[in-house]
Order: sequence, then C-alpha cells, then structure tokens
Amino acid sequence: MHSTTSAALIGFLLLISVYFVTRRPKASSSSSLPLPPGPKPLPLIGNVHQAPKSHGWRAYREWNEQYGPIVHLNMLGQPVIILSTSEVAHDLLAKRGAIFSDRPRLFLATELALKGLNILMMNYTDQFRHHQRLQVSVLNATPAAAYLSVQTLESQQLLHDLLLGSSGGAGIDVQAPFQRTTASIIHTLLYGFRIRDPNDPVLRSVVKLNEEFSEFIQVGAHIVDQFPVLNHLPGFLAPWKATAENHYNTKYALRMENFRRALEDSDAWNISKQLKKTVEKDDGRDKMPLDELAFELGTMIDAALDGTTDSLVWFVVACITQGHQGFIAKARAELDAVVGRDRLPRPEDKPQLPYITAIVDEVLRWRPAGPEGAPHLNREETTYNGYRIPKGSVVVANIWTIAREEAVFGPDTDDFIPERWLDEKGELRALPAPAFGYGRRTCPGRYFARNVLWIIVARLLWSFEINAGLSEETGEPIPVDPEACTYGLVMRALPFKARFIPRGPWVREVITREGDTYSTDHTALLRQIGAEFSKL
Ligand code: HEM
Repeated sequence: MHSTTSAALIGFLLLISVYFVTRRPKASSSSSLPLPPGPKPLPLIGNVHQAPKSHGWRAYREWNEQYGPIVHLNMLGQPVIILSTSEVAHDLLAKRGAIFSDRPRLFLATELALKGLNILMMNYTDQFRHHQRLQVSVLNATPAAAYLSVQTLESQQLLHDLLLGSSGGAGIDVQAPFQRTTASIIHTLLYGFRIRDPNDPVLRSVVKLNEEFSEFIQVGAHIVDQFPVLNHLPGFLAPWKATAENHYNTKYALRMENFRRALEDSDAWNISKQLKKTVEKDDGRDKMPLDELAFELGTMIDAALDGTTDSLVWFVVACITQGHQGFIAKARAELDAVVGRDRLPRPEDKPQLPYITAIVDEVLRWRPAGPEGAPHLNREETTYNGYRIPKGSVVVANIWTIAREEAVFGPDTDDFIPERWLDEKGELRALPAPAFGYGRRTCPGRYFARNVLWIIVARLLWSFEINAGLSEETGEPIPVDPEACTYGLVMRALPFKARFIPRGPWVREVITREGDTYSTDHTALLRQIGAEFSKL
C-alpha cells in the first residue's frame, strides 16, 4: 500500500476512535422506558448491516409490519425512528412540533454544498422561520390561487406539444414535456421568463444540480457526514470538498443571474420582486441580504420541479398500468357531463369535478414523490406510547407505508382506486394527505403543486387516450413497470415512452383553436397577478 494512503488510513482510524469515544450515546436519560422495538442490533455498529442500500421505504414497511408503527434502529449509535401510521406521525411530528422540527446534520449537503442556506435542511431556528414566512407569503392557498392563469397557459402549451409530438408515432419520452411544463410555470412566476424547450440551459443546470444534491443528501452515504472532522484532511484526501464547493459556486451563479433577470428584464410583477419588496420593507422585520433571498428563490425552484414533475409522470404510469380499474372511463364521463366537448377544462370547473380531484389525491397517495419525506430530528427526549425517544433521533415518516394504511385508506392500498377519496354521495372525503409531510415542516408548496396537478390531469384526461409506447421493431406496446423507480430524495419512474392519442376529432380542433401559447403575452398575466397581490 502506498505510504500516503497508509498514513491516511491510520489517521482515519484514529479519528473514528475519537468519534466513538466522544460521541457514544449518553446512558443518562430522564426515563427508564424502553426504546421502540426494531431489528436486533450488533454491538458497536447497531443495525448498519441491515440498513437497506436502496428503496428504504420498502424495507421499512416490512419492519413496521413486524414491529409496529414505531421502529427504532441504531446506526453506529445514532438513533433512527421510523413512523408508519398517520396517527403516530401526526402525534409526534405535528402535535409535538416544538421539539420534532429540526433536521439531522448532513454536513456535506447542508454546510459544504449549500453553506447553510437551504430552508429544507435548516434547523427550526429564527432563520428558518424567517425563510418560511417569506415562502408562505407567496405559496399559501390565497397567493397560490392567483397563479392559476400561468398554470393554465402552460397546460395548454403541454397539450399542444403532446398533440404535435406524439399522437402519430411510436411514443415519446414522458419526462421531458412534463418537466418543461413545470419548469416554465415556476420560472415564469419566480423570475418572469418562460422555459420553451426541455433542453433550455437554465433548466438543464437546475436538473443537473438537483441530481448532484440528491447524492449529497443520502443519509449515511458520506463518511464526512458521520465524521465532519475529516473535512480538515487535505483536498487530495477529501475530494468531496472540491465537489461541494463547485456545487455551491455553480448554484450561486445560476441563482444570482436568474434573480438579476427577474429584477431587470421586465417591468412586470414576479415573485422575486414581491419578496425583494418584503425584505426591504421599512419596519426591518423581514430584512435579509439579497443573495440569501436569491438562494431562497432557487430553493423553491429545486423543491417545486422534481416533486411536481414526478407526480405528473406517475399519473401517466397510472393511466397506462391501472386503467383497467375503470377510473379513466369514469373521469371522462364526469368531464363530458360538466365541461362538454367544445372547450378545455378550466380551474373554475373544479368544484363540479370531484372525481378529477380524487385522481390527483390518489396519485399523491399511490406514488408519493418523496416516499420517505425529509428526515426530522427531535431536540429533546420524549416518551410516547410507553417508549422513550432519545434526544437527537433522526425521525423518518415513512410516507410510503403511511399512504398504504388500510385502516385509513380502505382495502387494496397498493392499487390505484380514486373512489377511496369519495363518500357515498360522490363528495370528497377529508382523509390525511401524507405526501406533503408533517407539522411545522409540511411542504409549503402543497397548494401550488395541487393546482398544477389538477389542471394538467383534468386536461390530459379530457384530451387523450394515454397508452404505452410501441416497440420500433415489433410495433407491440412496451410494457411499463409501475414499480420501476429511482431511489433518492424523490422517487422517479424509470424512463418510458407513452403515446398521447386524441380521444376524438373535437380534441384536435379545441387544442389547435387555442394554439401555441408562445405568442401570448405572459407579462400581462404577471401584471394581473401583481394587481391581485396588491389587494392581499
Ligand atoms: C407534488 C409535489 C410535491 C411534493 C410531493 C412535495 C413533498 C414535500 C415533502 C414530503 C417535504 C418534506 C416535509 C417534511 O419535512 O415533513 C417537502 C418540503 C418542502 N417543499 Fe415540497 N413537495 C412538492 C412540491 C413543492 C412545491 C411546488 C414547492 C414550492 C413551490 C415545494 C417547496 C418545498 C419546500 C421549500 C420544502 C421544505 C420545507 C421545510 O423544510 O420546512 N414543494 N415537500
């Protein structure tokens, strides 16, 4: 072995020993109650050897079936608590939000790659509450309703692109048009410019940075997260330092340039201008450096892009693989009765289209884009249902399992059945919505996301038969596997092709009549939103 490597290894082992001596969990506790049950740990390493390498939510579901709704794991001395019912997740993460709203320290992602500026990873501090206040001021139910015009415009563009791009051939890659649509909605609202092409360089940069960040954020995957002291090693032994620095610099440059464009390129309203006004208000309550605000806006782009796009793609997977359940025919009957065939569905139709809303709820339940949510951390020890939850536990709401709780959602929860969201009168039932997380860290973009999903789902069902793509060689449909997905912070369907075939001649006529939207002046829509904001 090369001598430098040997020296590094000895240094590394020394650091690990120091870590265990200084970080071994304290025996003292205010309670003699037991820890929650879980798989049997080994000395020193605990359950590390049993930790799933990928798709953790599936293994956690098995543990929850075996040990109950609260499972404890010991990861090298770090307590991890996995929750698997709506009741326990709500009791701990929401009702005891004052102590369960921190995040685990992911040194590489939070401190090196984002220099503490990402709201998703912040502890529940004054700085976090400040960022959250800003986000809520532009994402809550009332402001989110003001964005419907832009969402509707982009959904029309999506239909137009799908009509031109897919109806005749063997099918198209599904991710690209949906990603463009979501990206264009959020870039228009946040920065005032549209994304017209899936290969737009701004969009490609966001996607690349999101993929990189998804690697950084893997719990347990980076030795420097367990031992931040390793960051003192010279660069050639600590290659993550340069990668993280480069990530930060690229993100910073992208966000500052987008912010500049938002402020300078047009005199129309956008969210950047709105929040800049808030942080510069005379009372000083929301004062924030402008580069920190620019970072905040970029975080909203990152958070909005993946969850929303991936949920739309899962809807397409449901149409192709779960259509035999009859939900498509039911949705069409509702759409034909309420909307007719002379125009597209509009947001105002929503109260008369509960079955479409039930489909959106079912997509979010059946394939929650973040199946393990984002980990919480409790700042104090607490007891619950006869168990002790040690201070500093990483608490994971296993949204995948929670969304499959038969006591809450009825039978066959692995199947796609929108009817579970409706009562016997066909009205929407108030069931829990685990996909957006819990308590004080609940997703602030949930109203925004639901509005995007609703208008696009309604319009796709109104317009197209959605079928699997065809093999170029045999002309046969290529089966889509509804279980095939990536593993990371978000659960994305593996690439597949689909065909979007107009349901009838009236579809082509209506979509063509409304036409390509790039000649529409989107700044007029933004001015209208600005006028509505001034009344809020
Ligand atoms: C279907 C789409 C979406 C899904 C499934 C989703 C899901 C989630 C989940 C599970 C969390 C973590 C909650 C927790 O810690 O308990 C979260 C956090 C967050 N989401 Fe979303 N989200 C979506 C869309 C959006 C959109 C459109 C935005 C912004 C416009 C957004 C902004 C955020 C932010 C800023 C956080 C961090 C909140 C915090 O740490 O306190 N999300 N989201």
